[in-house]
Amino acid sequence: MPAIDPERLLSDLRHLRSIGAQDRGVVRPAFSAADMEARRWLKKRYEETGLESTIDGVGNVLGRSRNPGKALLVGSHSDTQPTGGWLDGALGVIYGLEVVRALAADDATRTLAVDAVSFQDEESRFVGCLGSRSLTGTLSPEVEQGAVDNGGVRLADALREAGLAGVPRLRLEAARYAGFVEAHIEQGPDLEDTGRKIGVVSSIVGLRGIRFVFRGQQNHAGTTMMARRRDAATTLYELAHRINQEFPKAAGERTVWTMGRLRVTPNATSIVPGYADLDLQFRDASDAPLDACERIVARLVAEINARGGVSIEATPSRTPIPPTRMDAGLQEHIARAAERHAPGKWQHMPSGAFHDAGFIAASLPSAMLFIPSIGGISHDFAEDSRDEDIVLGCQVLADAAASILAAANAAPGVQ
Ligand code: GLV
Ligand code: MN
Ligand code: MN
Repeated sequence: MPAIDPERLLSDLRHLRSIGAQDRGVVRPAFSAADMEARRWLKKRYEETGLESTIDGVGNVLGRSRNPGKALLVGSHSDTQPTGGWLDGALGVIYGLEVVRALAADDATRTLAVDAVSFQDEESRFVGCLGSRSLTGTLSPEVEQGAVDNGGVRLADALREAGLAGVPRLRLEAARYAGFVEAHIEQGPDLEDTGRKIGVVSSIVGLRGIRFVFRGQQNHAGTTMMARRRDAATTLYELAHRINQEFPKAAGERTVWTMGRLRVTPNATSIVPGYADLDLQFRDASDAPLDACERIVARLVAEINARGGVSIEATPSRTPIPPTRMDAGLQEHIARAAERHAPGKWQHMPSGAFHDAGFIAASLPSAMLFIPSIGGISHDFAEDSRDEDIVLGCQVLADAAASILAAANAAPGVQ
């Protein structure tokens, strides 16, 4: 079986961390100068490894193996949240690079084909999983044209600034691949809490988003009596509170919802706000609780609007992500490799975060492997994992990749 090089793996991960490093975390949002620097560095790294490498017109970096036969696509994303951790996405990207190197260095696996990838904008600066959507042909022109970040920058302008306007976009060659495997930090506490080292992902959550716009009447905070007010912020607080009261009645065990972005205008202490907006995001591994939450929102909005004070407009804030099951055959390969390297210390588990694998799964058999996150913290500068867990996860992935490819190339179509 191929052996990864722990020092080489950790040193490349730390190098990627240094691009956009801030505090203990990383600020490398999609298309920023740091993001594009990291993508150019990766392209060079892929080439040094013997891959044929391209940065496509949305910023995806793909390194293609020159070996014949069915290939395995391995990778994740190298963009980060506005204030992100150093491993979210980066771990799976550098694992991809290391798996290519490990298989190439072993006589038994050197002819197997592994392509490495870093997708663009998984973290939703413009469109969540922009790169994997573009690659799989599921990025609609309307979504792309309407894409604007939180600061009002249009996607088209960010592409031009990053030097990507007019650069050809890759399309996934589905027939080339036996499948896609994405490794990732868990970003939650389950592996650490149960003392396990590897998660074999069974499904990825679905996600929906609703944007509420509240319109009232801006006015003086001293002279406007409470009964006369049409205060957009107060209606926002009321709706948010009622969502928090009502959703638990419809929620499944792992349904989660977040109201993590809001704006109150003009945001001044002595002004009754005339305008506010709020984003609600909710997730579950099946559609039924998400449908039920949507019905609750419709009822609450209709009830508040019927009072005739502040009006609420509710529209989808993003293209929904459907819940996705991971490929059973690929999970089996990962589970066997996990049992070899961490006997009894691995588990099947759902993913509460969404991932590019959720989009690639529509075109290719796809699977994911998780390693523990210290304290279950992610999307924060404090995000971290133990070196020994990082090394173990990569070794499991390398073994799984070799066995997936050996099976796919021995009997095409069989995994
Ligand atoms: C992806 O980063 C997510 O928010 O799940
Ligand atoms: Mn991620
Ligand atoms: Mn993330």
